[in-house]
Amino acid sequence: MKKDFLKYQAQTTPHPLGLEVSHAQGSYIHTTDGQSHLDFVAGVSACTLGHSHPKIVQAIKDQAEKYLHVMVYGEYAQQPAVELTKLLAENLPDGLNKTYLVNSGTEAIEGALKLARRATGRTQILAAHQAYHGNTMGSLSLMDFEERVQPFRPLVGDIAHIKFNDTSQLSDITVQTAAVILETIQGGAGFIEPQNDYLKKVKARCEETGALLILDEIQPGFGRTGKLFGFQNYEVVPDILVMGKGMGGGLPIGAFTASEELMDLLSDNPKLGHITTFGGNPLIAASALTTLQELLHSQLIPDTLQKETLFRKHLKHPLIQEIRGRGLMLAALMKNSEIADRVVLEAKDRGLILFWLLFEKRAVRLTPPLTISSEEIVKGCGIIVDILNEIAAE
Ligand SMILES: Cc1ncc(COP(=O)(O)O)c(C=O)c1O
Repeated sequence: MKKDFLKYQAQTTPHPLGLEVSHAQGSYIHTTDGQSHLDFVAGVSACTLGHSHPKIVQAIKDQAEKYLHVMVYGEYAQQPAVELTKLLAENLPDGLNKTYLVNSGTEAIEGALKLARRATGRTQILAAHQAYHGNTMGSLSLMDFEERVQPFRPLVGDIAHIKFNDTSQLSDITVQTAAVILETIQGGAGFIEPQNDYLKKVKARCEETGALLILDEIQPGFGRTGKLFGFQNYEVVPDILVMGKGMGGGLPIGAFTASEELMDLLSDNPKLGHITTFGGNPLIAASALTTLQELLHSQLIPDTLQKETLFRKHLKHPLIQEIRGRGLMLAALMKNSEIADRVVLEAKDRGLILFWLLFEKRAVRLTPPLTISSEEIVKGCGIIVDILNEIAAE
């Protein structure tokens, strides 16, 4: 299978990890060679309830027997999407009560950028250095990483950058600014949390200037940081909230949420301000709805904080400089990137799945399913520490 994977399927890097997947259940991915791999990555923060959670599988089966795609987004009332957007509104602060469902995180970012320009009549978007918001043209244009964006110029215009957590640059937000877009916790940059009320200060400056605050919760959202959404840890409410990844319970989804007043601008003057065929797809919405219900009706969200403590307790080693992040959005910062590389690759051979971050190359990603057990955390941390002991002894 790997030979055909490399030959026929377009690749993103010259050296993919290339595990040959047979099936996956709970915290484990099983490969065609009969090996089991404990998953500390969860499809890059996507498999919130672990692999093939029985309630999600049942919801998908039940919906598949009723109907699949019946119409483009926005024309027909379909129960899974209606219930999902209603439950979201009931669990979000006032002002975040209308959700547009799309197919991926990056598409949700595109929708949010369009909404901000439409709502303010302004064009400038401010994004953060080392931010990642996706890879379609608009999202890519937000990325301040010359090597990755240069081959694709010209990008979307009127985008400038500020440094995350640097309040001296808040004056860059002006009456020209349509929106400031930030990841609530910066992912690819190294799981960097906002410090010293940074997000509150950004929001205050946005209010002064009439700019909108867009928070990208595609990674921290859906319970990973001890709250349903990461922003709820920092006493701030965005004007537009963007979500994806862990929302879908293992199926592809994205969404952006705003007030009714803002969101209605996309359906009027001009109407069809954003269009998608498959957004709100009933199968995917059923999976997302079940994920959200399970998160809200269990202890999984608060438990992420106890699980964080367990990771921090069992990942003490002189070659680990720091554990960054919150809840189950953690990154272990190694002394250097060579050590991080070896840990990821050697863990793979010992039945533990780890992964890198996009920009911070010293980091090893620790974003397991929220359903991971204490025993599984201790077991995986033991494998990491064993590898580090061997490296230290060389
Ligand atoms: C913070 C953030 N925003 C946006 C995206 C893009 O999401 P997608 O890959 O679903 O388009 C990602 C994906 O890694 C992400 O982590």
